[in-house]
Amino acid sequence: MRTVCNYLQYSTFLAPSWQNLPHTHAKKGGKSCYTIMVSSTKLTNASIKVDKGVASSTHMTNFTINTTQTRTQTQTQTGRFGKYGGKYVPELLISCLNRLEDEFYKALDDPEFQEELAEGLRDYVGRETPLYYAERLTKYYKDVNGQGPEIYLKREDLNYGGGHNMNNALAQSMLAKRMGCTTVVTATAAGQHGLATAAACAKLGLQCTVFMGQADIERRPSAVSLIELLGAQEASSEAIREWVGSIETSYYSPASVIGPHPYPTMVREFQSVIGKEVRRQAMEKWGGLPDVLVACVGGGSNAMGLFHEFRHDEGVRLVGVEAAGCGLWSGKHSATLAEGDVGVYHGTMSYLLQDDEGQILHAHSVANGLECPGVGPELSYLKDSSRGEFDTVTDEEAVEAYKRLCRLEGIFPALEASHALAFLEKLCPTLPHGTKVVVNCSGRGDKDAARVLQFKPAHSYDGQQPEQSNGYDQIWENQYCPLPNATKKISRN
Ligand SMILES: Cc1ncc(COP(=O)(O)O)c(C=O)c1O
Repeated sequence: MRTVCNYLQYSTFLAPSWQNLPHTHAKKGGKSCYTIMVSSTKLTNASIKVDKGVASSTHMTNFTINTTQTRTQTQTQTGRFGKYGGKYVPELLISCLNRLEDEFYKALDDPEFQEELAEGLRDYVGRETPLYYAERLTKYYKDVNGQGPEIYLKREDLNYGGGHNMNNALAQSMLAKRMGCTTVVTATAAGQHGLATAAACAKLGLQCTVFMGQADIERRPSAVSLIELLGAQEASSEAIREWVGSIETSYYSPASVIGPHPYPTMVREFQSVIGKEVRRQAMEKWGGLPDVLVACVGGGSNAMGLFHEFRHDEGVRLVGVEAAGCGLWSGKHSATLAEGDVGVYHGTMSYLLQDDEGQILHAHSVANGLECPGVGPELSYLKDSSRGEFDTVTDEEAVEAYKRLCRLEGIFPALEASHALAFLEKLCPTLPHGTKVVVNCSGRGDKDAARVLQFKPAHSYDGQQPEQSNGYDQIWENQYCPLPNATKKISRN
C-alpha cells in the first residue's frame, strides 16, 4: 500500500465515505496509514485528496485499490514528473500498462514505425503546419511608438481534422494496430479527438468506439454525425471501463497528456512534432529560437507538444493559458493549475479541481475542449518548478480574441486556441520590441462560430438566466454565468 500510504499517511482521519469501505489501518512513523480494499474496477471519477490532512475520495465505489496491487505500484514507480504522474490503477491494469509502455518504446525505436508515422503525418494529416507571421495582429499590438513583439501562429488548425488532435490520434491508432488490437476506445468532449480517432481508425481498418457525454453530444451534433459517418460507434458510458472489459483486443487512446503512465509521456511524445517543427521553422525564419511560446491548457497536450522541445532552452518562456470561464471568483472555470490542488484522478497525480472532500468539481469553459477538471502531470511539474508560467483568461476574453483573429487575419481559431490568443492582450504590452512570440493555434474554429455569435457575457444578464427559445438551450445554459455575488467560490486553504 506504499504508494497510497505516501499520501494517506499525512491524514489525521478518514473522511466518512472512506470509513464505510473495507480498510486496514496501521501506524507508520507515528502517522496513520490506511489500506482501502474495494472490489469495483471502475476508475473514472476516482480521486484521492492528499494535502489537507483529510483523505477522501470521489465516488469511492468506483475506485479500486487492494494491498496486492499497490505492492506492484511501489515496484513500478515510473512516469514521474517530480511527485506528479505515476500509475494509480488496479493490478489488472498494471501489466497492460507495462506492456503498452514496452510496445511504445519499441515503436519509438523502430525506424519502420517512425517512417510510417512520418508518412502518415505528411500525407494524411498534412504536416508540416506553417509557422505563420501574423502581420496585422503584430501591428495591432504595437505601441504608439511602433514598438512591440512579433507574433507567429503555429497553424495546427490546418491539420486534417482541424486540430492538433490528429497527431496523437493517428500515432495511437498505429500503435494499437501494431499491438494486434482490433478496436480503439476513446472519450471525447469537444468531439475533436473522437473525430480524429475515428478517422485514423477508418484509415487503418480498425474498429472505433467513441464515448461522449450527453451534454457534449447535444452541443456538438455535427461532430457526432461525422464520427458516425467514419464508422465509429458512439456511446455515452465510460471509455476506460469499456477498455478494461475487453483488454485483449481493445486499445484505449487518451485525448490528452492525462492518465496513468505511460499515457502522459506517449501523448506528449506524439504531439512533440509541433515543437520540433517550430524550432526548425524559427531557425529558417529568423535564425534563432522563439522567445515566448503560448498555448492553451485543457489537459495539456497541445501545450506539451509545443513546450517539450524547448524545455532545456532556459531563454524560451513557456506560457500556458487556462480557462477562467465566467471568472475565477465564480467557481465556473477550468483553471486547474490556478485554482486546483493536488490529488489523484484518472490514475495519475496532478493538480485537480476538487472540493474539500476530494469530490471532482465540474469544469466550465466556453471552449468544450478546455473543460477538464484535471491537467497533465508534466504541466503540474512545470508549474511547481517555475519552468512554466500559467495564467487564465475568461470566456469573454476568449470570444473577443476569436473575433479579433477573424477580423485581423481571416483565421477562425478554435475557442480553445482563442484562450492562448486572448492572453496576448496581457502579454504583449510587457514585451520588448521584436520579441518573437509563437502562439499555438491548436485548432480551427468553424465549429465554434454559432457559439461565438450567440455568446453573451455574464454581466449582460443582470443576474437572470436568459429566456431559452432559440434552440441553443444547452449553449445558453453553458454560457450563463452567475454574477459575482450570486455564487460563492469554493473555499480553499
Ligand atoms: C483545438 C483544441 N485545442 C485545445 C484543446 C485542449 O486540449 P489539450 O490541452 O490537451 O491540448 C482541445 C481539446 O479537445 C482542442 O480540441
